[in-house]
Amino acid sequence: MTDPARFIEDALPRLRSEIPGRALVAASGGIDSTAAAILTQRAVGDRARAIFVDTGLLREGEVARVRALFEANGLRYEVLDAAARFFEALDGIVDPEEKRRRIGATFIRLFEIEADRFGTDRLVQGTIAPDWIESGGSLRDTIKTHHNVGGVPPDSRLRLVEPLRDLYKDEIRALARALGIAEPDRQPFPGPGLAVRVNGLVTPERVQRARVANRIVEEEVERAFRAGTMPRPWQYFAVLLPTRTVGVMGDNRVHGEAVSVRIVESSDAMTATAATPPPSVLKTIAERITRELSGEIVRVLYDVTDKPPATIEWE
Ligand code: XMP
Repeated sequence: MTDPARFIEDALPRLRSEIPGRALVAASGGIDSTAAAILTQRAVGDRARAIFVDTGLLREGEVARVRALFEANGLRYEVLDAAARFFEALDGIVDPEEKRRRIGATFIRLFEIEADRFGTDRLVQGTIAPDWIESGGSLRDTIKTHHNVGGVPPDSRLRLVEPLRDLYKDEIRALARALGIAEPDRQPFPGPGLAVRVNGLVTPERVQRARVANRIVEEEVERAFRAGTMPRPWQYFAVLLPTRTVGVMGDNRVHGEAVSVRIVESSDAMTATAATPPPSVLKTIAERITRELSGEIVRVLYDVTDKPPATIEWE
């Protein structure tokens, strides 16, 4: 990308030619799809409608935050409450690729219904370059299928429009700044949401544990960052592990679950380095997670693996 202003200038006529009528925008509240939504609305005005799906797999407070973000940017949008559908689609599934496939298919079916209601077949997505490169779109082996890539089945009448597919994250951030999106440096959050941070079965109870643990990691890392005790990492989150482990409460042994904390430095998510936060930050995180999820989480680990050989997410 030469510069954001030039990119915007080129993107608007391209979007107008790709969207002859109306278009839905799959908007997750992340900077990629928010940038795609703003560009689309600039290009085609009220022929665009952003759809935000509450999957039940979101972080704490996410729906309110996304509403505020869309309103601040003057986006026309709707919120779909689809938690029950997503939990039904994920019932009994532990395989990460199968989770992504089912989440992708559930999204597509929902968008097909909404597209019919809105009278369009165009679906705008905020896909960026690492999404399709890592999904095997280039000559490299597939690392993992990002749920928003290749998710449109051949029998679907939806036609994808992807205005950001050649951009990398640092370019998206520059674009987001140029478009006036608040918090352009906010950490990325995967489209399949907490489902890929709940290893093993995805149940409402397990997602809630992951949600609380993720909130605690975010709060403590941001506190340390504001206090100047560590740099702002690229991503910082918690993963609920598929294991039962023993802990102690009072005089009793209890069996609970374990969480791994992941904090990484990166510039584009293609490679990453495990961060080395001050031990006091990790101790506070562990103390809070085991207290606020007392009896449910009895052990907290820290992941020290770089990417490669690991990936950023655990699934
Ligand atoms: P990995 O785990 O592959 O992640 O090293 C690279 C970046 O992509 C995010 N991620 C996803 N984003 N759909 C998304 O939209 C996905 O299925 C997905 N999986 C991983 C991850 O959070 C990191 O920023």
